[in-house]
Amino acid sequence: MFVVTGANSNTGSGVANALLDRGATVRVIGRNGERLQPFGERGAELITAEPADRAALARAFEGATAVYVMLQPGYIPTSDDFSAYQRAVIDALIAALVEMRVPRVVALSGWGANYEKVSDPLAGLRVLEARLHAIDGLSTLVLRPGWFMENAIGFIEDIAKSGMASGQLRGDLALPMIATADIGAVAADALLKRDFGKFAIRELEGPETLSLEEAAAIVGDLSGWAGARYEQVSAENARSQLLSSGFSTHMADAIVRMTDDVNEERIRMVQPRDQRIITTTRFQSFAKTVLARSNAERGARS
Ligand SMILES: NC(=O)c1ccc[n+]([C@@H]2O[C@H](COP(=O)([O-])OP(=O)(O)OC[C@H]3O[C@@H](n4cnc5c(N)ncnc54)[C@H](OP(=O)(O)O)[C@@H]3O)[C@@H](O)[C@H]2O)c1
Repeated sequence: MFVVTGANSNTGSGVANALLDRGATVRVIGRNGERLQPFGERGAELITAEPADRAALARAFEGATAVYVMLQPGYIPTSDDFSAYQRAVIDALIAALVEMRVPRVVALSGWGANYEKVSDPLAGLRVLEARLHAIDGLSTLVLRPGWFMENAIGFIEDIAKSGMASGQLRGDLALPMIATADIGAVAADALLKRDFGKFAIRELEGPETLSLEEAAAIVGDLSGWAGARYEQVSAENARSQLLSSGFSTHMADAIVRMTDDVNEERIRMVQPRDQRIITTTRFQSFAKTVLARSNAERGARS
């Protein structure tokens, strides 16, 4: 029995689908039971639970051969103390893993964990890694993927609409982009292969690093905007935009600081590229899928 936490998330849904594709017996956990239904239709057992519900997690981990563990969601826009939220999720996960003597875990972390002074909303990743490392008898593979292509969905849609997108990230910075479905496939393979030792950390990225300026040109080509552009906005502007779209001061400050850490390359990949796991989805193909979906949704509305 393979158990997937965060099954409604980008990566968790990828893991669950990849395991089901391979014919594995799967139990999925999510808060939203309706969104879990498609996994049920594919034969998975469904558990509806909050991420910090220790007792429900323990019940869900019963009899598990291996568990996919993650901190979800990536941030909560209205949170006033995201660290406290992440600590509660980590405490519940760790207690349930220990109680049920789960033998193996594949854990989602991220390239942010490479920076020892990383703060919210990524600080929990380092805590999760350390707490898993400390569990006696648990075999853990930590995955540290780079920048999710899903972060670029709004960027792709903006360029398709107007030939232009903006944000706080530097336009010239080569980002280790990766599609979350690929992370799901790597995690599912690892869960099934069982070949990691006591504790290992692997970085993951897609087949190419791309800057947002390069990504803008790719999306411009796909959507008929020759000369499509990406423009960086100041941290102050980014913060104002987050606040005016309903983010708490705590969360807006945290996201601006995290983006600065990426811009200043404090958050970066550190393993030699030949030791990283390199996945296959290219940004161009990801962008095509996003554009096709937006077009279909627009067609359905009109
Ligand atoms: N974005 C990046 O570039 C990046 C890079 C490296 C690592 N990471 C790490 O990846 C993780 C995020 O992975 P992901 O993108 O797969 O997750 P995600 O898609 O952001 O997770 C969203 C899911 O979280 C669940 N959720 C639980 N509590 C929630 C709440 N209070 N509010 C809203 N949703 C809640 C929801 O499931 P229900 O529908 O069941 O409610 C929702 O579907 C984070 O730990 C992040 O640090 C991110």
